[in-house]
Amino acid sequence: MADSKEKLAADAKSLKDIAAGIARCRGCRLWERATQAVGGEGSPKSRIVFVGEQPGDQEDIAGKPFVGPAGRVLDEALEKAGVDRREVYVTNAVKHFSWEPRGKRRMHKTPAQQEIAACQDWLAAELRLIRPDLIVALGGTAVRALLGPGAKVLINRGKFLPSDWGAKVLVTVHPSSILRVPPEDRKEAFEAFVRDLSHIKRVS
Ligand code: URA
Repeated sequence: MADSKEKLAADAKSLKDIAAGIARCRGCRLWERATQAVGGEGSPKSRIVFVGEQPGDQEDIAGKPFVGPAGRVLDEALEKAGVDRREVYVTNAVKHFSWEPRGKRRMHKTPAQQEIAACQDWLAAELRLIRPDLIVALGGTAVRALLGPGAKVLINRGKFLPSDWGAKVLVTVHPSSILRVPPEDRKEAFEAFVRDLSHIKRVS
């Protein structure tokens, strides 16, 4: 019998093992409609781990996290905050693209709590191997995956919260939320996101 997801994740000795495990993961049904699993990206020596929600349409095709529109917002904000993306590890709480059809488009669908929970073993394995000094939670799904289902973004944003992961968690919004802000408010929303990320320098 094939090893369970729990065992594969617990036994993973490298990020490569995790990538192989998530590629075969059937812990929830999201794999059925996804092109591929999307693992984290970055060095296992990274001191900071960013956790997003789930791969989007472009990430699902590219097989890499944060390469689409939200990724561009993240890249720009990191640059403004003085954080080099090449020195951090970027991953998602959920490793398969959750979507529903709208016409010919694949529309993002927020993953269910059960899907977040099913992917938790992989996130835990990534954090166990990397042992970062700081985890940055990008948006509600990441905050719930890291701090529990009741945790909220808006009352905690910009704060370093204690966690069970051996590192503080810095809470901020998801970069895609900035793209949904009305154009006249977008600059301010982006600047607030950069301010949150600028706190990272306090620990790095
Ligand atoms: N949104 C996320 O949360 N993660 C990605 O990788 C892309 C978009």
